[in-house]
Amino acid sequence: SWTPEHFVDSMVLALQNTIGPDDKVILGLSGGVDSSVAALLLHRAIGPRLHGIFVNNGLLRKDEFESVLHSYKDLGLNVRGVDASQEFYAALAGISDPEGKRKAIGRTFIEIFDQEAQKVEGARWLAQGTIYPDVIESVSVKGPAVTIKSHHNVGGLPEKMNLKIVEPLRALFKDEVRQVGDALELPHNILHRHPFPGPGLGIRILGDVTPHKVDLLQRADAIFIDGLREFGLYEHVWQAGVMLLPIQSVGVMGDERTYEQVVALRAVTSVDGMTADWAHLPYDFLAHVSNKIINQVRGINRVVYDISSKPPATIEWE
Ligand code: XMP
Repeated sequence: SWTPEHFVDSMVLALQNTIGPDDKVILGLSGGVDSSVAALLLHRAIGPRLHGIFVNNGLLRKDEFESVLHSYKDLGLNVRGVDASQEFYAALAGISDPEGKRKAIGRTFIEIFDQEAQKVEGARWLAQGTIYPDVIESVSVKGPAVTIKSHHNVGGLPEKMNLKIVEPLRALFKDEVRQVGDALELPHNILHRHPFPGPGLGIRILGDVTPHKVDLLQRADAIFIDGLREFGLYEHVWQAGVMLLPIQSVGVMGDERTYEQVVALRAVTSVDGMTADWAHLPYDFLAHVSNKIINQVRGINRVVYDISSKPPATIEWE
């Protein structure tokens, strides 16, 4: 029968037999479970001949780039962190349309990843954290010609650099990937991380993206996510996040009227992300998060909770 330990042993052997003894492998890391587990498997098979590239698109959660990079280094992985936030903000300037933002982010990712990959001399392989559901369902419900894992789409790099593709998780479902990650001692904070979209906060800022809006949203999001952890709710929801809405609302502060941003909290339960119910979070928790956001994040004066299920709503707002 299938066990994660058997899978690890046989996959490590298979990788060692497939990848030549001097070959180098490039892998894009996202901080998510799949790419991290793929990295650990490859690391066990070929050690530092695995060259991980972790791009900061400036649209990650607060402090996520530094903390995940730190975890990777602690695991002994050969990973290069590339902070390309400014390139992404420049590419996004003035774009409000969701598909336009996805394309700008995807295009910039490919550019940056290409540049970094080409610095790895003697690379023969491109590894990907593709899992079975990605194989069977690579088209998003968001509209035509948009693939769900657009950040994993590496464009024409394999042809340009003459790279062969290796996908060690291609046959696994998500829960199996987690079991394999556990067997490989992937730290708990990565193993049980909620799904997070490739375009990141770029599609949770409705309207155009600016560094200032990213900062506001990162701070509100961190209060929500840290709160879920503190209240023991994090692992009871499939996914959670905050949406920064493109509207202002009137409020009062002392004797003054304010006219500031509104955010929506989104938390859902789901088994696969295809359908989802809004999470019935306790009122006292929602009150705690709302007060904390409004008191601590200057520029946000109203918090609402999204009570829509998928379908017909989607998990993300864009
Ligand atoms: P929706 O909003 O369609 O999201 O209910 C379903 C799942 O997919 C994630 N998502 C994305 N992931 N690139 C990604 O890598 C995207 O463009 C994208 N759009 C949505 C979403 O976070 C949820 O987990």
